[in-house]
Formats: sequence, C-alpha cells, structure tokens
Amino acid sequence: MPTTIAIANQKGGTGKTTTTVNLGYGLAQRGHKTLIVDLDPQGHVALALGFPPSSGTYDLLLGRSKAVKLAQQAREDLPLWFIAGDKSTALAREILNRRAFREGILKKALERSPFDVILLDCAPSLDVLHTATLVAANWLLVPVKLDHLALAGVLGLIATLQEVQDEGYDCNLLGVLPTFLDRVTTETRLQLEALLERYGQLVLPPIPVDTKLREAPGFGQTIWEHAPKAKAAVGMPKEEGSEGMIGGYAHLVEIVDILLRG
Ligand SMILES: Nc1ncnc2c1ncn2[C@@H]1O[C@H](COP(=O)(O)OP(=O)(O)O)[C@@H](O)[C@H]1O
Ligand SMILES: [Mg+2]
Repeated sequence: MPTTIAIANQKGGTGKTTTTVNLGYGLAQRGHKTLIVDLDPQGHVALALGFPPSSGTYDLLLGRSKAVKLAQQAREDLPLWFIAGDKSTALAREILNRRAFREGILKKALERSPFDVILLDCAPSLDVLHTATLVAANWLLVPVKLDHLALAGVLGLIATLQEVQDEGYDCNLLGVLPTFLDRVTTETRLQLEALLERYGQLVLPPIPVDTKLREAPGFGQTIWEHAPKAKAAVGMPKEEGSEGMIGGYAHLVEIVDILLRG
C-alpha cells in the first residue's frame, strides 16, 4: 500500500504546488516510486514539470481509468510519475457533489496502485475534493506562507482533519511547513514564532524565499534541476556565519524519506 500525503492549505499561493513537485522529485531521486496527483483545476503540476495540463485527474475521480494508466512519467531516469489536472477537474468536482459516497472516491482510486508514495496537490478550497483528499491521505502537510494571515489558513484545515479523524479515517498531521521565510522582515519572524507557539514540534524546518523557486516552473524544472545549490534547495545557515544548515527542500525530503522508511 502506498503512503499518501496531502499537501493542502485553503489559501492560494502558499507554496503547495512548489512543495509537492520539489518533494516528489527529491523522493524519486532517493528511489521511492512516487506519484503526484494534481487536484487543482489550475493544472500547475504538469506545467511545473514541463508538460501541458490535461484531464487525467477528471478520469481518475470519475473512475474512468486506473491511476497507473493515467500516470505520466515525468523524467526518463527517475521513478517519478504524475496525473495531470486541468479545468476539467472542476467539472469532476461538480459531478461528485451530486453523488453519494463521494468522500471515499479518491481513496478507492489510489489504495491499490503500485507506488511507494503518493503526493496529493490540493486546490486552495475546502470542498468535497478536499475532504476526499484527507480521506485518501495518511498524512497532511500544510505549507504556510509567513505573511500576516499565516495562521488563518491552517485553522480551517485542522478542523476538517479533525472531522475526517472523527469518521474513523487515519490521517494525521505530518507537519506545518513555513514557506517564504525572509529573515530580514519582522513580519516573517513574528509569524514563525506564532506558528511555533501553536504547533511546536509539528513545525518543519522552513523554506526560504528564493527567486530561483519562482523561476524554475517557467523552465518546466524542479529546483533540483534548475538551481540545486539555491538556498530553497539546500537551506540556509542556522545562524549568521554558522556552518550548519537548516530548512530548504533538501531537509523536507530527508524528513519524509525517513518517514517512508519507517
Ligand atoms: N519559497 C519561495 N520563494 C519564492 N517564490 C516562491 C516560493 N514558494 C513558491 N514560490 C512561488 O510563489 C508562487 C505560488 O506558489 P505555489 O507553489 O504555486 O502556491 P500554491 O500551490 O499554494 O498556490 C509561484 O509562482 C511559486 O513559484
Ligand atoms: Mg497550487
């Protein structure tokens, strides 16, 4: 059975797709057979990997084809696949809304698929697809942009997680991932402190703000291909001038790699 991780936050632009794609590539590099599923009608997963958006997710959600058939290999030399979405994903959501037993649809579609890990890139919303995603997931990872409303996006999500757990599904919070960390601004520091106060150990090492991350999707590349030495990839010094590094997607990949190896 694959381990399934939902990457979600009801706010847009918090780094969900960026996290999904760079984590997925990093896990594939470590030998995990990885599948990314794009659940956002914007279709950014395909674009970020250098492919056109298409209706794979629609077919998956409506049970037209198996995950393994819909999966496209993202890189010839890596065990990395993705199921592309586009605006038809929104149509699938409408159709599902009218069905009974809709919350289990994604879990059923994915549970017997031949992957080690499945990453679910969510749309910024709390709707039927969102609930279906948490039902399908073993873990929830929440990228939180360190701006003035950082915490707001997390609270609604945790409430939905609680509801899903109350229904007997085994989805747990993997962590809250602070993104767009900018050490120069006080705003960032205050938001990070607020997150630490509320979520403690569940706050993962942060991802710095980095223009290399913004550029990479334009080339259809992950950070590992576009700028593997960028601070968003390798992290930043723990303190000014210190040797040890903290954060960056390398750190996240390492944490999830350890989780997968159990
Ligand atoms: N740490 C970061 N530093 C700079 N730009 C980032 C960072 N993370 C994401 N971005 C950029 O911010 C935008 C929103 O990120 P994205 O991952 O698409 O968010 P979401 O999927 O949550 O809507 C994208 O243009 C992306 O390239
Ligand atoms: Mg996105």
